[in-house]
Amino acid sequence: MSADAAGRGARKDDHVRLAGQQWEPGAAGPAGGRDAEFDELEFVHHALTGVSLERVDLGVELFGRHLAAPFYINGMTGGTERTARLNRELAAAAAQTGTAMACGSMSIALEDPAAARAFTVIREENPTGLVMANLGAGRSPDDARRAVDMLGADALQLHVNAVQETVMPEGAPALSEWLAGIEAIVAASEVPVLVKEVGFGLSPRTLAQLAGIGVEWADVSGRGGTDFLAIENERRPGRDFAYLTGFGQSAPAALLDAAAHRAEFPDLALLASGGVRSPLDVVRSLALGARAVGVAGAFLRAVVSGGAEELGGLIRAWRRQTAELAALLGAQGPDGLLRTDVLVRGRLREYCELRGID
Ligand code: FNR
Repeated sequence: MSADAAGRGARKDDHVRLAGQQWEPGAAGPAGGRDAEFDELEFVHHALTGVSLERVDLGVELFGRHLAAPFYINGMTGGTERTARLNRELAAAAAQTGTAMACGSMSIALEDPAAARAFTVIREENPTGLVMANLGAGRSPDDARRAVDMLGADALQLHVNAVQETVMPEGAPALSEWLAGIEAIVAASEVPVLVKEVGFGLSPRTLAQLAGIGVEWADVSGRGGTDFLAIENERRPGRDFAYLTGFGQSAPAALLDAAAHRAEFPDLALLASGGVRSPLDVVRSLALGARAVGVAGAFLRAVVSGGAEELGGLIRAWRRQTAELAALLGAQGPDGLLRTDVLVRGRLREYCELRGID
């Protein structure tokens, strides 16, 4: 293994360790409720508009495939022995429950064939499920094709992580080249391409830029969950980027903003992630217009704590409760949730006022 690949591997293990700490109960992170703009979305309760649970079907289409539930395991990891074990457990839980899953960035595997194993285990555990490959925006169309082929992936997640790269000790991203790079990958890709943030939100301007170069899927992945600014700052010797804490938009803010600018990207399918802690956050995201919802940190915590069995159990419980909440809110499907009455409070309301969103 090259020194560069070894360094990348250490970074992958650091990410899992530091992200895991943020999701521990009682930590200052998402599980502790810090900065949860999801909690500033409140449904108005109507006592007689509920529907019977057996009438609810929250199945969704993702990349032309049907999924029984509107949430999936978002891109996290791979590339080292530890993360290979995690990917195996994540993939086993995905296979047991029929849940879609993404892996973490595969750039390490493109450079070091030994690291590829940490990704191919996903297909061994889950030969027929919906699986997404993952790369950063700065890669070439050929790299994208190799990553997709390595996994036999149904779609490709391309992450745009400018904030993370800025704070990351190793980062010096060629930000000016990303948009053209994404355009080239989208033009050449044989599978759908989903562009995602990693926890800082996608603004309407970004969404319009993506739609303008032919992107059809975008995950706003907002602030408030796993905090990559804190993770990368922790990895800096002087921890000298702490002042940037809070940079970026939450998923609810990004979704509300996107809805207000929908005319600028009418055909872009919007997904949401970032700080999704519970089935209520899933339902809130759907109510704000997300087609489906990605979950990283909350599922990572379950898989680290109890492997595929614990995560499989959690996914089944979330699936049942997501349907129960939809029934309570009178929605037979995701479209019904768009007609619920949602109040916007606090900081999120202030964001809407400042952005001129009704
Ligand atoms: C991530 N995430 C991520 N995203 C991506 O596109 N490529 C990647 O390699 C990684 N790596 C990664 C590692 C770990 C340990 C975590 C927890 C997350 C980001 C992830 O997909 C998601 O966008 C954010 O974590 C926000 O969602 P949560 O964690 O708040 O649900």
